[in-house]
Parts: sequence; C-alpha cells; structure tokens
Amino acid sequence: MSTNHQTAHRNAKQDPEKPWLNPNAKPFVRFQNVSKQFGDFTAVDSINLDIYKGEMFALVGGSGCGKTTLLRMLAGFLDPSAGKVMIDGTDVNGVPPYERPVNMMFQSYALFPHMTVEKNIAYALKLDKMEKDERKRRIDEALEMVQMSKFAHRKPHQLSGGQRQRVALARALIKRPKVLLLDEPLSALDKKLREATQFELMAIQYKLGITFIFVTHDQEEAMALSSRIAVLDKGQVIQVGTPSEIYEFPNSRFVAEFVGSTNMFEGTVVEDTPNQVVIESASTKGNINVDDVGRYQIGQTVWVNVRPEKIKLSKTKPAKHAGLNVLEGTVSELGYRGNHVIYRVKAASGKIIMVFAQSQNRTEELDITWDDKVFISWEADGCIIVKS
Ligand SMILES: Nc1ncnc2c1ncn2[C@@H]1O[C@H](COP(=O)(O)OP(=O)(O)OP(=O)(O)O)[C@@H](O)[C@H]1O
Ligand SMILES: [Mg+2]
Repeated sequence: MSTNHQTAHRNAKQDPEKPWLNPNAKPFVRFQNVSKQFGDFTAVDSINLDIYKGEMFALVGGSGCGKTTLLRMLAGFLDPSAGKVMIDGTDVNGVPPYERPVNMMFQSYALFPHMTVEKNIAYALKLDKMEKDERKRRIDEALEMVQMSKFAHRKPHQLSGGQRQRVALARALIKRPKVLLLDEPLSALDKKLREATQFELMAIQYKLGITFIFVTHDQEEAMALSSRIAVLDKGQVIQVGTPSEIYEFPNSRFVAEFVGSTNMFEGTVVEDTPNQVVIESASTKGNINVDDVGRYQIGQTVWVNVRPEKIKLSKTKPAKHAGLNVLEGTVSELGYRGNHVIYRVKAASGKIIMVFAQSQNRTEELDITWDDKVFISWEADGCIIVKS
C-alpha cells in the first residue's frame, strides 16, 4: 500500500484547500436525494453527494450497486425518478446531454466502427467548428497522451481491447469538458500502461482543472488517483472520504472489507476508558486493546479491524508493553508478491490471520516459513473498532 499512500498524499498537497471541509465552498456537482427506479427495482436510493471543482472523485462498489446509473443521470442519459441533479448550482432536470458541461466515457467504449482512430477522436471537435490547426494540435496531443499516435489510421476492429479503451479515453478528454465522467476507463490496460495512464490523468487534471468522476473496480487505482472516494452498496452511499480516511477509518465492516484486505475480529466490549477500549474476542481467545475515543457500552458487540500490514510476525515472543496485542499461531500459507510477502497464520482459535511483510526491511520475518510457530503482534493504535 505504501506507494499508493504516497500518491494520495501528493494529491492532497496539490489540493491543499480540501473544499469539502469548507462550509462556504459551493459544490460543482450535487446529487440531492437522487433515486432511480427501474420498474419496482431501486437502482439508486436517495443519494446525496457533493463533488467540488477540480476533484478526482472515485465511485467504488460491487457490480450492480448503481455506479453507472448515477453517472448516466449526471450526463443526462437517464432522468432521476426522484431528487435533483445540480451542476454549478443549476438544476439540470430536462437539460439534454449535449447541453451539459459534462462528457462521459462509457464502460462499453462505443467507438464508431467505420472511422479511424484519429477520426473517432476528432469527431467531438468537428461539431464545434474548431480552427484546423488547433484541432490538429489537440488530436495529436490526445493521441500522444494515450500512446496511440502510431495507430491513428487504424479502425476499431484492428485494435486490441486495451487500445480501443485508450481511444475512448482520448475522445472523452479532447473536448475538455468541465466534468468528465469515466466509467472504468483503464480496466482493459495492463499494469504498466495503467499506471502510466494514471499519471497522465493526474497531470491532465492538474493542468486543466477538469473535475473527474470515475468508476473503478481497482481499489489501488481509487486509492492512488482520487481526492475522495464514495463507497456504494445497493444504490446507497455508505461512506465518502479521502483515500486514507476510507482505508484507515472505515465507518463499517462493509467498507473495511471492501477497500483493501483486512482482518476482522468479532467481540464484545469489556472495558471502555477515555483512550483505550478492551474487547473480548473468541477468535483471539483473549482481549484486544484498541486506541479509540468512541463511547461504547459494556457488552456491546463490535468488530476490530486490523490491516495486514499493521501486524508484525516473530519467532520470539515480543516484549509486552501497554496496549500491545500478542497472539500465537502457526503459518499455514505464504505467498510472495514481489514487494511484500503475504502470510496466513492460524491462531489457536482456528481463525486465519493475514499478515503482510515488506520484503525490504523485515529480514527476521522472511526467515519464517510454512508450519513455523509464530507470534503475531500489533499495537493498540494499529487497529480500529467498527460497529456494524
Ligand atoms: N435500463 C435498466 N432497466 C432495468 N434495470 C437496470 C437498467 N439499468 C440498470 N439496471 C439495474 O440497476 C442496477 C444498477 O446498475 P448499474 O449499471 O448502475 O450498476 P454498476 O454499479 O455500474 O455495476 P457494474 O460495476 O457491474 O458496472 C443493476 O442491478 C442493473 O441490473
Ligand atoms: Mg457499471
């Protein structure tokens, strides 16, 4: 996760104001109690969402949770069944797609099959009657950006899926709309090209100040690119926050488990002091200490969320200090992942606990192998409580 967090921090620096924290800032896009019914099925359920100018806003959530439907209502291809969509302070109800300052790149790229790559990209500009030189410059720039200059004269059926996706992306970008909606814009690209394109997108965003709203199934991508993320489930927004808020402070089990890998320990609160909560859990056969300022009731059922990279593994018992959580277990699986190693450790209770060890600096951990008896430990401030 470390590289993603670095990128996320870089984003925060580029956008130091964080308009969503300023009560006087006006959102550029606002969904106000927006619902969409298809027959008696509710695809989008009373969504409220404010998105600010210049944001790189990610929508994440399982398949069918309403992401595309939400974008289509913003672009004007679908009307809400209830509620209001506002752009720049104006209710856009009844405004056709081509009159909205919005451009959408569809999940199914919808390229014109009879036109070359270049013509597909230029199409949007032709309608604008732009001067020839400027048009040429923009097309070349867009082709360059998605690394498709070599293929300018091919037609869509002569391209791979990833290449078609890049043409669609160039076509969406070239008009420089105020708001650009991207539905899984990079899903067909390999890792290297995807990362390169992510950096290009961030550069474009920084240069042109376009507001991006994008859907992705790739959580690392959401973490790396976005100013904020909205996590959706069954047509509702479950949490909105910066990547680090969503990752470090998920508001529910759903968000904690959806974003990144995690270990979840169910338990009951047995002690609640002003800065530490003690939870008794069958899966640790003991107590878990958590730094938390929340108020809990004794006996309340909660879940302790511990990210795999917050856990240390050792063959020798770690020296106990206040708040440290220690468990014993046996390594049941391990997998190399290039820059880190994933361990699955079976605790005495039978629960499998996932641990990530960075390859660079934790040499002791890397001596640990299958069937080794190990100690697992994490600090009280390395875990959080979620209520439901
Ligand atoms: N025109 C339609 N008629 C009936 N149901 C629809 C229609 N469009 C979408 N739906 C339903 O609404 C729900 C939300 O669809 P949507 O396309 O917004 O999902 P999504 O979050 O984009 O999913 P995915 O990640 O798979 O693209 C789905 O259950 C889908 O079947
Ligand atoms: Mg979709």
